[in-house]
Amino acid sequence: MTNQNNKTEYQGPERVFSGVQPTGQLHLGNYLGAIKRFVHLQEEMETIYCVVDLHAITTWQDPKELHSAIREVTAFYIACGLDPKRSILFNQSKVSAHAELAWIFNCVARMGWLNRMTQFKDKAGKNRENASVGLFAYPSLMAADILAYKATHVPVGDDQKQHLELSRDIAQKFNNDFGSLRPGAEHFFPLPEPLIAGPAPRVMSLRDGSKKMSKSDPSDMTRIHLSDSDDDLAKKIRKARTDPEALPSESAGLKDRPEAENLVTIFAALADRTKDDVLSEFGGAQFSAFKPALADLAVATLAPFRDKAEELMAAPDEIDRILEDGAARARAIADPILAEVKDLVGFI
Ligand code: TRP
Repeated sequence: MTNQNNKTEYQGPERVFSGVQPTGQLHLGNYLGAIKRFVHLQEEMETIYCVVDLHAITTWQDPKELHSAIREVTAFYIACGLDPKRSILFNQSKVSAHAELAWIFNCVARMGWLNRMTQFKDKAGKNRENASVGLFAYPSLMAADILAYKATHVPVGDDQKQHLELSRDIAQKFNNDFGSLRPGAEHFFPLPEPLIAGPAPRVMSLRDGSKKMSKSDPSDMTRIHLSDSDDDLAKKIRKARTDPEALPSESAGLKDRPEAENLVTIFAALADRTKDDVLSEFGGAQFSAFKPALADLAVATLAPFRDKAEELMAAPDEIDRILEDGAARARAIADPILAEVKDLVGFI
């Protein structure tokens, strides 16, 4: 993996950072789009994964639900293969460098930059006057998450690209404003690069092949939760919307058949096969034959994760211990960087 844009300037090590919202209800799109990649990346690079509870409270969270969601997300990530010894896994509020650096970045970022963020506009909706200040400042906290570790690579979905560009702008302005005053510090922060989900599949709603599978869809039947029972998994796949045609024998034949394409995409991703390979087996088959095969595959792949996560959640002390250990290792990286930042800014 190369660091094309700032290789010559930034001298530090390559490091991956990503943040995960603590929503208890992880779904198949989260697994195939993010978790699976996070697990692969830990084989290749130093990886830091953070459950972003500070970000979560930019919109109202019931404290009890937040508390259990932090543990549940942690449990599922571990159950799906994230190794808390290899990766640093912790929750954001345990490491005060995030909030401290975010404040400094609030004073680096410009109102105009944040005003352009489309996620704020979407999340605030019509009633912008009533949105929290934290929701507006969300992207500078995200920049702080990444830059507190001088992370160079950030696996994110398309929807987070704009926030990552803002992180680069903040890093660049900080480097210009403060680094130029001190020789050698003009490349203090790396300009973090997105690792955009290249081969990761887009998992769509089971009820509407034109919409992404999303935790915010009011209907449960549109998505597969990682916590679903075997029966629920099978039922949701059986009831997934399809068209009346048989499956084509090549992926070109899925064009303009978004629901068929989605089920084939899910099958291929779960089996680590290409769509063409799956269709060479199922081409000509009716959905009445394909769906049970997909349900069996989904149960075989996902049930072990669910069972392992349940086992972990039955021992919350163990989860808390893992998070505390991760936080200590995170502080060991972030605190010295924050100390340098404070020095550059002029704090005593
Ligand atoms: N905003 C990201 C999301 O909603 C979560 C996040 C917070 C994040 N901090 C981050 C992602 C830092 C990558 C890096 O998905």
